[in-house]
Amino acid sequence: MKQIVILATGGTIAGAAPDPRQTAGYRAGALPIQSLMAALPDLGGLATVAGEQLYAIDSKDIAEEHWLILARRVGELAADRQVDGIVVTHGTDTLEETAYFLNLVVRTDKPVVLVGAMRPATALSADGPMNLYAALRTAAADGARGQGVLVVMNDQISAAREVTKRHAGNVATFGPGEFGFLGEVGPAGPVFYRSPTRRHTTASAFDIAAIDRLPAVEIVYGHAGMSPLFVDAAIAGGVAGLVYAGTGDGTIHQAVLASLVAARAAGIAVVRASRTGGGRVVAGAALDDAGLDFVAADTLNPQKARVLLQLGLTQGSARARLQHLFDTH
Ligand code: SIN
Repeated sequence: MKQIVILATGGTIAGAAPDPRQTAGYRAGALPIQSLMAALPDLGGLATVAGEQLYAIDSKDIAEEHWLILARRVGELAADRQVDGIVVTHGTDTLEETAYFLNLVVRTDKPVVLVGAMRPATALSADGPMNLYAALRTAAADGARGQGVLVVMNDQISAAREVTKRHAGNVATFGPGEFGFLGEVGPAGPVFYRSPTRRHTTASAFDIAAIDRLPAVEIVYGHAGMSPLFVDAAIAGGVAGLVYAGTGDGTIHQAVLASLVAARAAGIAVVRASRTGGGRVVAGAALDDAGLDFVAADTLNPQKARVLLQLGLTQGSARARLQHLFDTH
């Protein structure tokens, strides 16, 4: 029998409201892991499951300390020969960033599966119990080994690097965009159709054992009528890196380009991403990245580019090295 550990961190999957019709205005992270486990069906021969409450927050409030605590605990459990897989219950709002962080820093082939819910546990047709059951089935599946960190929501299995939250309220909010799901959790259990190709977990350039803090990186959102206000404030505030969520293929408003050049001259790493939600920002295509000393985010959305930039900066801020990390992770 497989041994799975659930690490609970809060979110709507543990949310509670006084009225079962309430799907907004509830308290995220209100219920302990024991309540979530009590809602599960008899798991039969699937696995024995232990639960641990790591913290209980609304994931909009997540901070780097939460990532470090979680990654260390996942790493400890993964190193335990008795443990076959780990499920992390998490708020959906920043689940994709936590999943990608773990994907980059946890050195294991064992399944690590993140799961959340869009309706609080007290709601009519709460999606949490079925999502958690699907996540446990995935964490117990041999096919989940070596796939990197996975996200299971709404019976669909996605890769941490690709998945994003696409809808503010719908239970079918998570999806990997142009990349497609890795697999699904069907009536007979999880089925995988493809595997991620970018470096992750055991093949990643990063290891949580070597990281005790993360450099400050901010995202600046490009838009019509842009001014240099936020980039200048970031420079004055002493950030180590900036992700510019650019228009189109990471293009930069002329009103802000000089400030980004000044940021780089001040030693701040600048990454160009796209605010469009799809496609690739290619180094040297829309802009002379080598000349400007900027980095292109490839297909990472701005919030995931921020995660990789934070980790990359723990190893230095040379453009060539950072671009290599963005081209391979
Ligand atoms: C949160 O992200 O913690 C609240 C929203 C959710 O889980 O859906």
